[in-house]
Amino acid sequence: MWKDQRMSTHIGAKPGEIAERVLMPGDPLRAKWIAENYLEDAKCYSTVRNMFGFTGTYQGKPVSVQGSGMGMPSASIYAHELINEYGVKTLIRVGSCGALSDELNLRDVVAAIGSSTDSNMNRMRFDGLIDYAPVADFGLLRTAVEVAERRGVNMVVGPILAADAFYTDRPDLYDTLADYGVLAVEMESAALYTIAARYKAKALTILTVSDHIKRGEATTAQEREQTFSQMVEIALDTAIA
Ligand code: HPA
Repeated sequence: MWKDQRMSTHIGAKPGEIAERVLMPGDPLRAKWIAENYLEDAKCYSTVRNMFGFTGTYQGKPVSVQGSGMGMPSASIYAHELINEYGVKTLIRVGSCGALSDELNLRDVVAAIGSSTDSNMNRMRFDGLIDYAPVADFGLLRTAVEVAERRGVNMVVGPILAADAFYTDRPDLYDTLADYGVLAVEMESAALYTIAARYKAKALTILTVSDHIKRGEATTAQEREQTFSQMVEIALDTAIA
């Protein structure tokens, strides 16, 4: 790695201030909300760019919550620095997704076993010669499935799409992806899985369906908050297991 690349840090934490297990919502205010509602003795370790990060304890174990921003370029920066500069071992993204599959409904919880992408980031890693398949850590996914079952949440496990653009001119591609079993679309998972694999960390993405792209349905803000809690509880139980 180039030296000056390592010096450019986007997280204002001192060494040791970030736990080995981190939840990563896209929205920094969601990070604050998780810290305030679920962590004990939570302290904010970074306000750089208002991309808040907090560390506290959950059931006695240290856990951090770090905003990732939207999209793979932003999420990659935080995942890379968490792992390489702060020794983070477990990263669980908690976010929202747009459903592509007819089998999904608004507010469903989805765990992403693998992530296709239209991003060029991985093509660059492999000189355009390999279509790398970014996948979740199996142990984390298995634990999350067990936790969801114990909590009585019907979590749907399957592949998703990590898209570079929120607004697409090619909705036909979404139909084709649905034909191939792709459940939903979000904007971070493929990069998160790839970076975790590259630097020997574990990653998982858990999402709630905030909108159904094919049916043109969307959740209300209140519904999003409720389902967000369910997902965060699964993620926290999984992180400390
Ligand atoms: N596209 C991409 N990411 C998303 C969407 C979407 O429709 N909904 C929630 N996250």
